[in-house]
Amino acid sequence: MSTKFYVCSGCCCGRTEKGNYEVPAELLQSVWHEAELHNQVELKITSCLGPCSMNNVTLIKTPDKSIWLGKLNTAEHFTALISLAEDINQSGEFKDLPDLLKPHKFIPSSL
Ligand code: FES
Repeated sequence: MSTKFYVCSGCCCGRTEKGNYEVPAELLQSVWHEAELHNQVELKITSCLGPCSMNNVTLIKTPDKSIWLGKLNTAEHFTALISLAEDINQSGEFKDLPDLLKPHKFIPSSL
């Protein structure tokens, strides 16, 4: 079973008119396509995942765990997500989060 990245671009995440950082959905989709990351990592740009106050939110689902990331508010955060997907695609498994993303891990209170 592959790893899945659910990158939220819903009612809050990515909404620049609400003062939030843009979610580079098209960039992510083109990188996934060009690097054939979908072999091991499925990318889904989603509507609201629930914890809007943590925008921008990404949920990573591995075969045995769910990892919530919030406050992905710089281009570097999304570059780190791409690097993580490349690592998983090469090794075939999720090992660890990049250091830049570790402080962004959270547990949603309402889910
Ligand atoms: S819009 Fe992203 S969690 Fe609600």
